[in-house]
Amino acid sequence: MNYNKKSVEDIDVAGKRVLCRCDFNVPTKNGKITSDKRIVAALPTIKYLMEHGAKVILCSHMGKPKGEWKEELSLKIVANRLSELLGQEVIMAADVAGPDAHAKAAALKEGQVMLLENTRFIKGETKNDPELSKELASLADVFVNDAFGTAHRAHSSTAGVADYLPAVCGYLVEKEVSIMGKALANPERPFVAILGGAKVSDKLNVINNLLEKVDTLIIGGGMAFTFLAAQGCSVGSSLVDNEKLDYCKDMMAKAAAKGVKLLLPVDTVVADSFPNPIDAEIATQVVDSAAIPAGKMGLDIGPKAQAEFAAAAKAAKTVVWNGPMGVFENPTLAKGTIAVAQALADSDAVTIVGGGDSAAACEQLGFADKITHISTGGGASLEFLEGLELPGIACLQDK
Ligand code: 3PG
Repeated sequence: MNYNKKSVEDIDVAGKRVLCRCDFNVPTKNGKITSDKRIVAALPTIKYLMEHGAKVILCSHMGKPKGEWKEELSLKIVANRLSELLGQEVIMAADVAGPDAHAKAAALKEGQVMLLENTRFIKGETKNDPELSKELASLADVFVNDAFGTAHRAHSSTAGVADYLPAVCGYLVEKEVSIMGKALANPERPFVAILGGAKVSDKLNVINNLLEKVDTLIIGGGMAFTFLAAQGCSVGSSLVDNEKLDYCKDMMAKAAAKGVKLLLPVDTVVADSFPNPIDAEIATQVVDSAAIPAGKMGLDIGPKAQAEFAAAAKAAKTVVWNGPMGVFENPTLAKGTIAVAQALADSDAVTIVGGGDSAAACEQLGFADKITHISTGGGASLEFLEGLELPGIACLQDK
């Protein structure tokens, strides 16, 4: 896939109505935004458009309202936060591409900013309905996609609208694609990838693709137990995906054939059962990963594995990390994930954290400034690591 796309700097936006798709799908609690990271990440593009005389029409989804109007998923809270961050009123449309959006877009002056309502309030959005794409396009003269976190979705507001307007990327998409693209295409070596998360099945193509590129592949988290079981280790009652045992054997054979070092945790933190509730106090012990006792469940990597993974990250020149090493929502079982986050923060390598849980862990631990790049995409960054074409980027004009 060609990632060399035209950006906002390659087109004239002065006096034009610019529809800019952002990913404002921010976490909320009791009607309040709990992390404005994605809003802050969109500011460089929004400010560029404002400063260059565009009439800025922002749009985004939030949550999964499935084509229904849900007041709790209104983007009004985003408009409020954005107004604070920009120091200027963000005009909120009462609909997505309806009469109010059209009237407000028509009245917009250069440098002003408005925000449409949640695009997923309209059924056609997730179906990439051409009628909705046309409606959205009719609001503007130019389309800018800056929603990296939603670039893996072929929806009306992320991709379909580009059929009807000149389409370029914003700074966030450009940054995500250039940092992650360079790491995958032309990494400084040694290149180490650290993968975690519960299920092997979520990362099948990521593992396969990364084995083509890395010098060392580290596998932790719940998915390590399927690999350990495939090696013939006893894994007790740990999570094993029996249907993926052959896949794991194939991947281990592929790693050996390519000379890629594949590291699994040598020791494991086990307990009698999964914590319930997830943050409940839990009694644990550390055991050898090759011989997890019957009835014991592996829930985090052990201290030897932490040290080995950290040493690999320290010796690397490029590190990509995606997925927690254990049940990090539980303080007793978060140590492996914290150790990996710490190792990346301490490393001189180019360090890239694919969004979701591992990004949240780095941020909660206060390591965000010490990581080269924390992606704003969860699913999008995974699909990027898989080497898949992202529809929200493929639809943009090539340079
Ligand atoms: C995300 O949070 O990963 C993006 O905003 C995409 O959201 P979605 O998974 O609901 O499409």
